[in-house]
Amino acid sequence: MAWLQAFVAILFFGISIFAQSQYQTVFERPKHLGIFHHPIRRVAVVGAGPAGLQAAAKLIEHNFTVRLFERAPHPGGNWLYSEETPVRESYPDKPAGLSIDEIPARLPAKLYHNEGDDGLTLDHRWTEHWRPRPVWYNLFTNSPKVSTELPDVPYNPETPWVLSHHTIQRHVRSYASHHCLNSNDHCPTTPSAARVASYSTRVVKVEKDEETHTWVLTLRRLERLRESNRILEEWWTETFDAVVITSGTYAAAHVPEIEGIVDWSKVKEGGRYSMYHSQSYRHPEPYVGKTVLIVGASISASEIARDISPFAHRIIVSVRPPQVRRGSRQRSLSRFPNITEFVPEIASFEPLESRTDGIHNGKIHLMNGSILQGIDEIILATGYQSYSLYPPDSTRRRPENTSWTGHYVPDPTLAYTIGRPWTMGRYQSYGFARVWQGTARLPPPEWIDDGSEGPDRGTGSYFLDMWLGEALFRRYITWLNAASLEHGGRFIGPPPIENLELLKYYTMVHLLNDTMRPEGIGLESVTMLSGQLRDGDPWDALTDEGSDW
Ligand SMILES: Cc1cc2nc3c(=O)[nH]c(=O)nc-3n(C[C@H](O)[C@H](O)[C@H](O)COP(=O)(O)OP(=O)(O)OC[C@H]3O[C@@H](n4cnc5c(N)ncnc54)[C@H](O)[C@@H]3O)c2cc1C
Ligand SMILES: NC(=O)c1ccc[n+]([C@@H]2O[C@H](COP(=O)([O-])OP(=O)(O)OC[C@H]3O[C@@H](n4cnc5c(N)ncnc54)[C@H](OP(=O)(O)O)[C@@H]3O)[C@@H](O)[C@H]2O)c1
Ligand SMILES: *[C@@H]1O[C@H](CO)[C@@H](O)[C@H](O)[C@H]1NC(C)=O
Ligand SMILES: *[C@@H]1O[C@H](CO)[C@@H](O)[C@H](O)[C@H]1NC(C)=O
Ligand SMILES: *[C@@H]1O[C@H](CO)[C@@H](O)[C@H](O)[C@H]1NC(C)=O
Ligand SMILES: *[C@@H]1O[C@H](CO)[C@@H](O)[C@H](O)[C@H]1NC(C)=O
Ligand SMILES: *[C@@H]1O[C@H](CO)[C@@H](O)[C@H](O)[C@H]1NC(C)=O
Repeated sequence: MAWLQAFVAILFFGISIFAQSQYQTVFERPKHLGIFHHPIRRVAVVGAGPAGLQAAAKLIEHNFTVRLFERAPHPGGNWLYSEETPVRESYPDKPAGLSIDEIPARLPAKLYHNEGDDGLTLDHRWTEHWRPRPVWYNLFTNSPKVSTELPDVPYNPETPWVLSHHTIQRHVRSYASHHCLNSNDHCPTTPSAARVASYSTRVVKVEKDEETHTWVLTLRRLERLRESNRILEEWWTETFDAVVITSGTYAAAHVPEIEGIVDWSKVKEGGRYSMYHSQSYRHPEPYVGKTVLIVGASISASEIARDISPFAHRIIVSVRPPQVRRGSRQRSLSRFPNITEFVPEIASFEPLESRTDGIHNGKIHLMNGSILQGIDEIILATGYQSYSLYPPDSTRRRPENTSWTGHYVPDPTLAYTIGRPWTMGRYQSYGFARVWQGTARLPPPEWIDDGSEGPDRGTGSYFLDMWLGEALFRRYITWLNAASLEHGGRFIGPPPIENLELLKYYTMVHLLNDTMRPEGIGLESVTMLSGQLRDGDPWDALTDEGSDW
C-alpha cells in the first residue's frame, strides 16, 4: 500500500503547489503599486477624536491590525467636556511640544507616584497627561450639523442645526461604541476594545526605524489607583508599519508676548489667577459684577463674551488688526454682545506695586497711548499653538510636504488627517486604507495644485480648497473610484448634494446675512484687509482651523 500512500502524498503536494500558485496570481499585490518596503499590516492611530475614530473604524474595516492611542480616558477628542481644566499655560509662552521628555532609559518601565512626589500633586500629573479640553459648559457649534456629523449614528432629525457640545459628546461616543472603540466596550464578535483602543495612553515619540522600515511609538499610560491614592505610570513601545496622526490642532495655549505679562500672570485674587487663557474657561456665573478684559477678538473671545455678558459688569475687548484675513474672525466681530467696549492692542502691563489685591489698580498701556485700569480679570483668548509628532521639530499641525491626500510625501506610511469638516474624515481614511492595502496608487503631488493664492493661502490648504472647490473634492472621489475600477473595492459617492446646499444656506444666514457688517460697531479699521468680502470667506469661516493648514 506504500505506492498508494506515495501517490496520495504526491497528489496532495501537487494540489497544494497548484493552489499556492493560483493564490499568488490572484492575490499578489500588484507590482507597480509596491511603493512600500513590505506589506502594511499594523497601523497606529494617534488620537480618538472625530478624525481618529473614523480612521480607526475604516482601517479595521479594511482588515488592518489597528491600535488606537488616546491620552484622555475616553473618546471624543476636543468634545470630551470636563470640569477639570488643563495645567496652567506658561508665562512667557513656551513652544508647543512635550513637557516631559523624561523617557526612562529602559523600557518597558513602571513607576508609582504618591501625592506630592517631586513637588507635584496627583491631579497635576493626571491633567498634564490627558490635557482637559478647551470646551466650556454652554458652548455651541459654529458649524451646522450637516458638517458636524459622523457616519453610522445619524442625529435625530429634530436635533437643531447648531449643536450643544453635550449633544456632540454623546454623538461621538455613540460612534466610538458602534465601532467597539469606546473606553469600556467589549465586543466578542469584533476585535476586543482592549486590543484596539488604549486610553489614557499618550504617544510621546514617533520614530522611524530605518533598518526594519517600521515606526516605533513610545507610549506612556497613566492609571489612578484610587485605593492606594497613587498613580501608576507605565512606559513601553510598540511597532507599526504605518501611522495616522489624528492628534488635533490645539496642542497648547498661545500666550502673547506682551511686556510685563509675566509679572501680571502671577497675581491671584481669592485663590484664583487674575489672568488666564480661554482654555480654562468653563462657567459664566463667577463673573457676576466683574470688569473683564478679553484679549483677542476671534471665536473664543466673542463666544465667551456672549456667555458672560448677562453676568459681567463690563466687557472690554482688546483687538488688533488682523494679520491674515479669516472669515471666522469677521463673523466673531459682529457676535460680541452689545455691552462690549473695544480697545486697541495692548502695548504693555505696567509693573504692579503689590500683588496682594488683584490687578484692579494695575495700569495697562494700549497701543494708542491710553491707559486702561480697574480690570478684575483678564481672559487671553489668543488662540493655540500646534506641532506634529513627526518630524520631531515640526511646529505645524500637518508638516511641510504633506500631500493633499494626507500622506507625508517623504514617507507615505505616515499620514495626517484634517479635523474640520468632520465629514471629510471618512473619505480621507478610505484613501489611507486603499493606498496601504495596495489597491490605490498615490496620486502624484502635482496632480492637484495647492490652490495657494493671495497672502492668506499657505501650502497645505488643499483640503480647505476641496470645500471651496466642489470640483476638487469630486476629483478625490474620482481618484478612489478609479482605483476601485482597476483593483477592486467599493465605489463611493460624495456626500448628498443637499448637504452642500444646506451648508451654503447656513453660511448665508449665519455669516453673510447676520454678520460681516463691520459698519456701526466702530471697527472699520480692523475688520477687513481690503474692504471687500471674497467668495472664500464664508467657507473659511466654516473650515478654518488655524493658520497651518
Ligand atoms: C473651543 C473649540 C470649539 C470648536 N468648535 C467647533 C465647531 O463648532 N465645529 C467644528 O467643526 N469644529 C470645531 N472645533 C474644532 C475641532 O477641533 C473639531 O471639531 C474636531 O474636534 C477635530 O477633530 P480631530 O479628531 O481632528 O481632533 P480632536 O478632536 O482635537 O482630537 C484629537 C485627539 O488626539 C489626542 N491626542 C493628541 N495628542 C496625542 C498624543 N500625543 N497621544 C495620544 N493622544 C493624543 C487628544 O487627546 C484628542 O483626544 C472647535 C475647537 C475648539 C477648541
Ligand atoms: N464653536 C464655537 O463657538 C467655538 C468657540 C471657540 C473656539 N472655536 C474654535 O476654536 C478654534 C480657535 O479659536 P480661538 O478663538 O481660540 O483662537 P484663534 O481663532 O486663533 O484666535 C486668537 C486670536 O487672538 C488674537 N491675538 C493674539 N495675540 C493678540 C494680542 N496680543 N492682542 C490682541 N489679539 C491677539 C489673534 O489675532 P490675529 O488674528 O491678529 O493673529 C487671533 O484673532 C477656532 O477654529 C474656532 O473655530 C469654536
Ligand atoms: C476583510 O477580510 C474579510 C474576510 O477575509 C473579507 O471578506 C473582506 O473583503 C476584507 N475587506 C477588505 C476591505 O479587504
Ligand atoms: C443689548 O442687548 C440686550 C440683550 O440682548 C438687550 O436687552 C438690550 O436692549 C440691548 N441694548 C442696546 C442698547 O441695544
Ligand atoms: C484709545 O482707544 C480708546 C478705545 O477706542 C479710546 O477710548 C481712546 O480715546 C483712545 N486714545 C487715544 C489717545 O486716541
Ligand atoms: C519639501 O519638498 C521640497 C520639494 O521636494 C523640498 O525642497 C523640501 O526640502 C521639502 N521639505 C521638507 C521639510 O521635507
Ligand atoms: C437676511 O436679512 C434680511 C434683513 O435682515 C431678511 O429680510 C432676510 O430674510 C434674511 N435672509 C435670510 C436668508 O435669512
